[in-house]
Amino acid sequence: MKICLLGASGSIGQQTIDVINKNPKDFSLVAFSVGKRTRCISYILKKHKDVKHVCVQDRAKARAYQKKYPNIKFHYGDEGLLEIIRESSNDMVVNALVGFVGLLPSIEAIKNHKKLALANKESLVVGGDIINSLLKEYNGELYPIDSEHSALWKCLKVDKDDVRRLILTASGGSFRNLTREQLKDVTPEDALKHPTWKMGAKITIDSATMVNKCFEIIEAGYLFNFDYDEIGVTLHDESYLHSYVSLISGGFRGEISKPDMRNPIKFALYEGNIPFKTSYFQKLDDLKGLHFHAFDLARFPVIKFAKVVLDKKGTLGAILNRSNEEAVRAFLNHQIKFLDIERIIEQSLKNMRYIANPSLEKILIVDQETKEYSHKLIKQLGEAR
Ligand SMILES: NC(=O)c1ccc[n+]([C@@H]2O[C@H](COP(=O)([O-])OP(=O)(O)OC[C@H]3O[C@@H](n4cnc5c(N)ncnc54)[C@H](OP(=O)(O)O)[C@@H]3O)[C@@H](O)[C@H]2O)c1
Repeated sequence: MKICLLGASGSIGQQTIDVINKNPKDFSLVAFSVGKRTRCISYILKKHKDVKHVCVQDRAKARAYQKKYPNIKFHYGDEGLLEIIRESSNDMVVNALVGFVGLLPSIEAIKNHKKLALANKESLVVGGDIINSLLKEYNGELYPIDSEHSALWKCLKVDKDDVRRLILTASGGSFRNLTREQLKDVTPEDALKHPTWKMGAKITIDSATMVNKCFEIIEAGYLFNFDYDEIGVTLHDESYLHSYVSLISGGFRGEISKPDMRNPIKFALYEGNIPFKTSYFQKLDDLKGLHFHAFDLARFPVIKFAKVVLDKKGTLGAILNRSNEEAVRAFLNHQIKFLDIERIIEQSLKNMRYIANPSLEKILIVDQETKEYSHKLIKQLGEAR
């Protein structure tokens, strides 16, 4: 399988390269993108000789690298991400970009008949209906990389007609042992210490606010065609049980393994058919000491945003995503407080334009309007501090 990897410098991107490195007979990297962290380019090119296209965010850097590597075509910016999908000889696009910037590449991959291995959950949160209709129109294939959805995908493969509910597990993030009162003054530095997973900054903050779980509920809704009321959340301290399904015939089915994203990445790259003898990266020898707790909506009220979005869809996913993206950036820059993130999302969902069946163009417009509105709120909240 020839791979085009978007977001090669990030956490999922680097782990995808590890999966490719460990399975060189089955996968070859033919194109990749990085954003601002360009240092890894030389290292990747040294090892992956089939790469013919690279995209970086910045035009000047693309020019400099082009001079250094004349046999490789360097692209830049948002358009460059689409170009490497179209122009390289890939069979599969791994979308490991973070945030809204991942949406158009997901769409481009499907339209160019590429298999899509999707870590960028924001693509589905913002454009779930559009992506699903394109998958139908182009007879496309989408393989989820999120560990929860990878586990659910496995369960549904076996029990498709017997599944009553999907249950996502949640670690509770960096502040799982704090009360709402104690959340008032937490810092970005505290929030970036996730108890069980090592991930990029945005998703680590999203885990602390639980917006990540909102996104995952919405993602599950679009991926597997389940309503909000058919998707639950259970708190699980160790992140060993990745998610599970409750069966009509009684009982549950789930997936248990160490928290290591290379497992779901590998499952997606092999399109759900891992050859029998390839082993897990980290072995799990024991099942002692796993802890589960009932989910408390009063402690994690942001989950209500998932209901709002999945029940009414339209432009609400785009509004949720953009207001969160801007609020998280402002929190990381110490402009607003942790609980302001929820406030900005709530206000945006209330006040931004709801369009029931938006075109892609309308989604892009509402995204931009939400960006401007969120900046206003961030300024007001910052001044009030
Ligand atoms: N990390 C995990 O364990 C995990 C688990 C499940 C799902 N996910 C999902 O996977 C996606 C990636 O997460 P991550 O943790 O790997 O994030 P990350 O470490 O922050 O990496 C994100 C990647 O996207 C690139 N990027 C960001 N903005 C860009 C832009 N405007 N143009 C071009 N490239 C851009 C970054 O480039 P530079 O850094 O070079 O600027 C980097 O390569 C997210 O949607 C996340 O929710 C992650």
